[in-house]
Amino acid sequence: MLETLLQQVRETHLEQFGVVPQWLASAPGRVNLIGDHTDYTGGFALPFAINRYTVVSASPIASGAGEVRIFSTLSNTAVNITLGAPDASAGEPQWHDYIRGVLTLMAAEGFAVPGLSICVHGDLPVGSGLSSSASLELAIATLVEGIADRKLGSQEKILLCQRAEHEYAQVPCGILDQFSICEAQKDQGLLLDCRSQSAEKVTLTADKIAFVVIDSQVSHQHSGGGYAARRAQCEAAQDELGCSLRDATAASVATLSEPLLRQRAGHVVSENARVGDFAQALAQEDFLRAGELMFASHASLRDDFEVSCPDVDSLVEICRNTKGVIGARMTGGGFGGSVIVMAPPSELAAVAKTIAEQYRASTGHDTQPLVVDVVSGCALHD
Ligand code: GLA
Repeated sequence: MLETLLQQVRETHLEQFGVVPQWLASAPGRVNLIGDHTDYTGGFALPFAINRYTVVSASPIASGAGEVRIFSTLSNTAVNITLGAPDASAGEPQWHDYIRGVLTLMAAEGFAVPGLSICVHGDLPVGSGLSSSASLELAIATLVEGIADRKLGSQEKILLCQRAEHEYAQVPCGILDQFSICEAQKDQGLLLDCRSQSAEKVTLTADKIAFVVIDSQVSHQHSGGGYAARRAQCEAAQDELGCSLRDATAASVATLSEPLLRQRAGHVVSENARVGDFAQALAQEDFLRAGELMFASHASLRDDFEVSCPDVDSLVEICRNTKGVIGARMTGGGFGGSVIVMAPPSELAAVAKTIAEQYRASTGHDTQPLVVDVVSGCALHD
């Protein structure tokens, strides 16, 4: 529960830094119901925020502005950072680079960032494809808004956090994660148009459908290169077509010269269409159709976009063969991570248990299903 996490971060802050924190902020994680690898070519997605959070606390310290001490319960480590440009010689980005990025970019926007002690805590699994990095970025941005007693516009906030991820974590992500966390609404999915950077609310009929997230236990890492390579392939397809993949069609994609680009662009074009069909199926309460679209999305990400992996594929197959499951697919960037499963609320617990047991039996991975509620976005707390 969020209240419990806030109490825990207050206590840890006091233990680590000897003072009660003055500011507290939280941001949820997200799952994407459908529409993956469509955001960075201006397409569509349908995410919602989940009741698993990053919580952060801060208190001022006497040292100079921009000197920040951080303790994270997530890695059980402490680190001191100084605000400044990304350090290209520092090797693989670390969790605190997201914090350094957001603090530095906000300071550049005129937000006062004094010397600070910051504590990071939460119950959002890291590396499971549930946007723990965007959640940390948004929690820190919200914290700085509290410290400076001034707010960014929500679009500015989304883009600033995305920029922190590009420049400080070297992940050329789209806006799906930052947008869905910043604009999240309780009990609503967001039909996100990544070109206009706007969203329509989609009612997720809580009495008819419910969601469980199953972590494959294969940890993903987007700075590894697969994500950037997919983005570059989509951009190469756009260059050759002379238009955004958002405006491409199956027929235009068939004219691309390289088979690999036809495959990648083919996924994007079909996935954009599936997002619209999925939103319509939900509106008509045609859940069987919505479920079929989720499975079709997974197959496209597996076969055409090639961002799934054998364990995630076997998890989705187990879901397909489990009585009560309406639909299931990998969610997020892929290369491991989680599967989102849709089922009727009355069957969700039994479905989750069966899937986890069968997954354990077939792969040896021990996974704890997360039944997720649809929650609102980042917040400051007293
Ligand atoms: C990651 C990125 C997002 C998006 C998804 C795939 O989560 O951060 O921008 O591209 O992968 O849909």
